[in-house]
Amino acid sequence: MVKTSLSVLVDTKAVLTCPPVLWLSVLVTWEIVLRDKPPCFRAYRRDTNQTTGGNCTDKRITWASGPDENPVLQIDPVATTHDGNYTCQIATSNGNFQHEYHLQVLVPPEVTLVQTEKGTAVCKAAVGKPAAQISWTPEGDCVTEQEPYWGNGTVTVQSTCCWGGRHVLNMSCSVSHLTGNKSLSIELDKGVRTLGFPGSDLLIILCVKSSLLLVILVFVGFIHFQRTKDCSACHVATLTATEAQECSVAALE
Ligand SMILES: *[C@@H]1O[C@H](CO)[C@@H](O)[C@H](O)[C@H]1NC(C)=O
Ligand SMILES: *[C@@H]1O[C@H](CO)[C@@H](O)[C@H](O)[C@H]1NC(C)=O
Ligand SMILES: *[C@@H]1O[C@H](CO)[C@@H](O)[C@H](O)[C@H]1NC(C)=O
Ligand SMILES: *[C@@H]1O[C@H](CO)[C@@H](O)[C@H](O)[C@H]1NC(C)=O
Ligand SMILES: *[C@@H]1O[C@H](CO)[C@@H](O)[C@H](O)[C@H]1NC(C)=O
Ligand SMILES: *[C@@H]1O[C@H](CO)[C@@H](O)[C@H](O)[C@H]1NC(C)=O
Repeated sequence: MVKTSLSVLVDTKAVLTCPPVLWLSVLVTWEIVLRDKPPCFRAYRRDTNQTTGGNCTDKRITWASGPDENPVLQIDPVATTHDGNYTCQIATSNGNFQHEYHLQVLVPPEVTLVQTEKGTAVCKAAVGKPAAQISWTPEGDCVTEQEPYWGNGTVTVQSTCCWGGRHVLNMSCSVSHLTGNKSLSIELDKGVRTLGFPGSDLLIILCVKSSLLLVILVFVGFIHFQRTKDCSACHVATLTATEAQECSVAALE
């Protein structure tokens, strides 16, 4: 009894061969055991050169060509439902031989990397089979979640990372999977950190202060105008001069 593990990409063609035996086979049987299903059989009798019985109803599982010498089973195309054990049993005049295949269907994940908010990125390996592994460069504070779809065995893996407070511009997410590894990188929004130099903040505060001052001055000036009811042009001229002075003072500081 030989056992072989076989990984096959979804939507491709899988070919399962019986082991070659030295003696003339009499009967070749494939037993197919799929998840949550009763086993089914396909058989080939050499003496009559005929397939017999065969209660496998899956149309995608067939003999590779007319069963012959060494009957080959083919699955075309492979779906996630084809995960299971396929056993070839060969009955000869000198005894029985078996070869068992553990078939695992692989689905490559769809990989995406996005920046959700400042300093945070989400890397997703969607509907892969089996679950993918996600790692980051540089390492951040990450939360990784897995969401399995029980119907077909695929898993969505999502990793959310933040690099709070650290001066990280470039990061990459690496997804490793049996169907191949993938790496994506993203540049964090540069606007976040560069605003932090001291001068600009001070400038903004001063500008806000001076415009607030201007509003107060206009208000005071308006009251004054209402009281005196004359020489209004004079007051306006004074205010404009004050405003100009305030802003230049702010800019200088
Ligand atoms: C096929 O036949 C075997 C035995 O003859 C039985 O145990 C099995 O349940 C059958 N499978 C299906 C899918 O009908
Ligand atoms: C068995 O039958 C198939 C057709 O069903 C034919 O192509 C093949 O040559 C036959 N093989 C033998 C050994 O008779
Ligand atoms: C296939 O065989 C292995 C061990 O031989 C077993 O653990 C597994 O459950 C089997 N798979 C199915 C679908 O029966
Ligand atoms: C598996 O199931 C999920 C959820 O129903 C679906 O989005 C996905 O396309 C399926 N994948 C395959 C390979 O069937
Ligand atoms: C980010 O990484 C890419 C590719 O590795 C590189 O071309 C780019 O110069 C990097 N940017 C910075 C800001 O490091
Ligand atoms: C994928 O990455 C893993 C580790 O992250 C490594 O062991 C494996 O060899 C890589 N596979 C390929 C095909 O590069």
